[in-house]
Amino acid sequence: MLGVCYYPEHWSPDIWADDARRMAALGLKTVRIAEFAWARMEPQAGDYQFGWLDQAIGTLGAAGLGVVLGTPTATPPKWLIDAYPDILPVDPATGAVRKFGSRRHYDFSSADYLRESLRIIGVMLDRYADNPHVIGWQTDNELTCHDTALSGSAAATAAFRDWCRARYGTIDALNAAWGNVFWSMEYGDFDALDLPIQTVCAPNPAHLLAWRRFASDAVARYHGAQVGLIRERAALRQFVTHNFIPYLDTGVDNFAICADIDFASYDSYPLGIADMAMARAPAEHFKPFMRTGLPDLTALNLDQTRGLSKHPYWLMEQQPGPVNWAPHNPRPAPGMVRLWTLQAFAHGAACVSYFRWRQAPFAQEQMHAGLLRPDSEPAEAWAEIEQVIADIAQLDSLATPMQRSDVALIIDTASLYVTQIEQQGAAYDYKRVVYQYYAALRGLGLNVDCVAPDADLSDYTLIVAPALAMPSAAVVSALGRARGLKVFGPRSGGKTAEFHIPDALPPGPLAPLCRVRVRVVETLRRDCPGELHWAGDAFESGIWRETLDVLDDGEAIATYEDGTPAIVRADRSLYIGTLTDDRFLTRMFAAVAADLGLATVTLPADLRITRRGALCFAFNYAAQTQDAPAPDGAHFIIGARSIAPYGVAVWRDAPNQ
Ligand code: GAL
Repeated sequence: MLGVCYYPEHWSPDIWADDARRMAALGLKTVRIAEFAWARMEPQAGDYQFGWLDQAIGTLGAAGLGVVLGTPTATPPKWLIDAYPDILPVDPATGAVRKFGSRRHYDFSSADYLRESLRIIGVMLDRYADNPHVIGWQTDNELTCHDTALSGSAAATAAFRDWCRARYGTIDALNAAWGNVFWSMEYGDFDALDLPIQTVCAPNPAHLLAWRRFASDAVARYHGAQVGLIRERAALRQFVTHNFIPYLDTGVDNFAICADIDFASYDSYPLGIADMAMARAPAEHFKPFMRTGLPDLTALNLDQTRGLSKHPYWLMEQQPGPVNWAPHNPRPAPGMVRLWTLQAFAHGAACVSYFRWRQAPFAQEQMHAGLLRPDSEPAEAWAEIEQVIADIAQLDSLATPMQRSDVALIIDTASLYVTQIEQQGAAYDYKRVVYQYYAALRGLGLNVDCVAPDADLSDYTLIVAPALAMPSAAVVSALGRARGLKVFGPRSGGKTAEFHIPDALPPGPLAPLCRVRVRVVETLRRDCPGELHWAGDAFESGIWRETLDVLDDGEAIATYEDGTPAIVRADRSLYIGTLTDDRFLTRMFAAVAADLGLATVTLPADLRITRRGALCFAFNYAAQTQDAPAPDGAHFIIGARSIAPYGVAVWRDAPNQ
């Protein structure tokens, strides 16, 4: 199913009916509206103006489109901010109040904002909970986008003190947990506690960790209140979703935010994120992907979103052309909008909705493409969307949920916190580490499930944790019980829950599983690596390197340049004590997969395959024709073995499957 994001309030009502007709004629089924329209719903306190929205919903619904209604809380109107100035968040770095005039200018700890948010949502529910055209609700918009998870406000400080009171019970317990004896940081009372910001030099990492956890809980609490109200009042047939920012970008626990909603959504902008991710990459590495995005980065975000909820996810926003917000904003290569759409379905999506219907000729996003140009003529993506509609008509198994993969990749908010708070080496970047591991697995043609550490891991053949910095006792015992092979990257088990080095040294509680002890850690500049020797070959070992003691029946299977152990194999685990290069990860995972009986195929960086049910999809990210790695006798449903530049092939392995 395909949809679009639409802003009726940006256009004269005279053209709504024609817009709706064209959407339906194109084959779109859903339309998301209203997520930034608070000021038009309530131009002054209590002055509710819903006539226009009634008309918009009626017009879209009459054309056969299912409407997804956004709660408008990402953009509190000016009069509301003036009435309750405490809604505005405070920039933690500078202490300056963030001003009105863009979006996301609210503080998750503001009691006034929570109350006002629930009030406007309540009014919307009164009006639309039974509306037959409204098929579901999107809460807010991209929670914590634009670095808004953390605020240095008085409300946040008071809420943080309460959060600490609840977690630690007594101030002595907090002082002990954080190690506040160091540098005379002991507090006499919870009310003496501040946020760990604007200090002269590094604040206590345990204090920072508590603040990050608190802020994540505050987002989940605020969002949970919205969801609770919608659930209480909306029709049962109306779903609740949220368009998430991936948690490695926002640093909040998306699993907690997702807990009460029906399914997760994601906003996919492959070119914008590739431009930012490769900002420092040499031109010869970047240019081939400039108009396609990085296949594994796009897919990682899709797989992360799929992992958040049991039900198939949506792409609530899909890039249709150049965006406006990256440092550089190229046009997609011809075919890429179709490719990205089919890639989303291959990774388990139920709906792909394009952002946005018509390019706005005014305000902040006037340089952002839509399906229509500002003059209402079809923009470049239009013909590709017509093609996608023809494509998906042939793919009947898209209706079934995605199957479980053989490989689980544990991605962990706690590891993000630990590695950001105590980077230790400026080149260490957890997001890059996760991406590197993921890309190595995907480059072997393996489907990957992105899971939280406390997911049910029992049925996976291979469980990979690029870093599992702070595993709880429950996670450690679940890992111990899981039958699959566990691969841990460096920093795993590096810290206790309160940010101490474990008594028996890292990997702390993972030591019995991994048969290893970390004696020394060194970090290196990215461009000054040492060596990793494995299987008769030399690879890079850099950025983060651990000197390992091998315990009990562990076996060193790789060494550093000085002959000391770098990777230790135990019964059902591999502990890798260093970050390394892509070549090593590919070779190592290929060997591991072969041992485990998982079929792999070594793919070039610009060709990727994904299985969904009985279908196998191949995506050609290259400017040249490439062959799909399909078995002899494969039955092609879309395309053929030879895939055109930026093209897609879909096949069943055998005609009767
Ligand atoms: C998204 C956001 C949209 C729009 C879009 C532009 O992050 O949800 O409202 O701003 O980016 O690419």
